[in-house]
Amino acid sequence: MNDNKIYNNNIRAAITSVGHYVPNKILSNSDLEKMVDTSDEWIRERTGISERRILENGATSDMAVKAVENVLKNRGIGPEEIDVIIVATVTPDMFFPPTATIVQGKVGAKKAWGFDLSAACSGFVYALVVGSQMIETGRYKKVIVVGADKMSAITDYTDRNLCVLFGDAAAAVLLEPSEDDKLGILDHILYANGSGASVLYMKGGGSLNPPTHETVDKKMHYIYQDGKSVFKVAVVGMADVSEEILKRNNLTGDDIDYFVPHQANLRIIDAAANRMGLDRSKVMINIEKYGNTTAATIPLCLSEWWQANKLKKGDTVVLASFGAGYTWGAILLTWAVDFKSK
Ligand code: COA
Repeated sequence: MNDNKIYNNNIRAAITSVGHYVPNKILSNSDLEKMVDTSDEWIRERTGISERRILENGATSDMAVKAVENVLKNRGIGPEEIDVIIVATVTPDMFFPPTATIVQGKVGAKKAWGFDLSAACSGFVYALVVGSQMIETGRYKKVIVVGADKMSAITDYTDRNLCVLFGDAAAAVLLEPSEDDKLGILDHILYANGSGASVLYMKGGGSLNPPTHETVDKKMHYIYQDGKSVFKVAVVGMADVSEEILKRNNLTGDDIDYFVPHQANLRIIDAAANRMGLDRSKVMINIEKYGNTTAATIPLCLSEWWQANKLKKGDTVVLASFGAGYTWGAILLTWAVDFKSK
């Protein structure tokens, strides 16, 4: 283990609770067959997705609030105990104020401050690193990290290349100082490469192309993706960083209990898992039910596996993401707490 993993106070951050929210409305592949020229077979074979959730009313903060409330209930604490709220999202309710402060107000986290973090599909991994370092300094005791995205708000449902891929969800974790130095966040590797800005973006609405009738007519307020280019880089990027974090901690796939990859495409997930020599049983996969929910995918997996009592105290876990930017990274952690519903 590298020496620089434990900071000045020898405090290690650990995830002590997790929760999620998915909207009720299901948009299935057969629903999409009626909207664009696609087929259930193509979508399942090329992406692994069967259905996704759509938030019909409300905004990203509404899903985030429900996820945070679930986290607090599972930990048995009230909102007034939260110190900081970080919301990773590319679909904030508005450009400003921060979605995190909207969440703070709605959950009643009276003493918390907070901010949004924008790193697309790597948003949760980036935010978990930021939040865990707030714990490691000794300054904060309870940091909430949320991954939440209402991707349906920026998806063109007439574009078959994109509308089959994305869904809406929110999931969150609570970070606290670990009671046991062997449990918690052990290591992380984060990367960015600005060349990704030309292949995966939302061009309109920001300071580069402020909204006008023209930007709307040109559909610049929707996601654009050169899927093939992104696919190639994502396969290599996610597999490389997952392998790198194992190697530098002298681990192999045999030492890992769960690999939790960003859920963008089942073929990307399989490529990364194969490189690590992992059996599918060790890989958290729920893309078939939710599609790509951007910042929510990884905590949504953690929450489902934890609440099903499959993710247990002491399990060695690798999280890995790849997304727009490009942004990518991996986190090695030991799971710190068994599930006991409150
Ligand atoms: N239904 C049917 N056909 C479709 C389709 C759909 N929903 N979407 C695309 N196609 C067609 C294309 O038009 C193309 O047809 P053509 O050969 O006649 O032009 C053909 O299928 C192949 O398209 P292609 O884009 O090469 O497919 P692909 O195998 O690369 O899969 C993605 C497309 C988007 C699923 C895949 O590229 C991908 O997952 N990319 C990376 C996503 C990602 O990781 N993003 C980063 C994080 S957000």
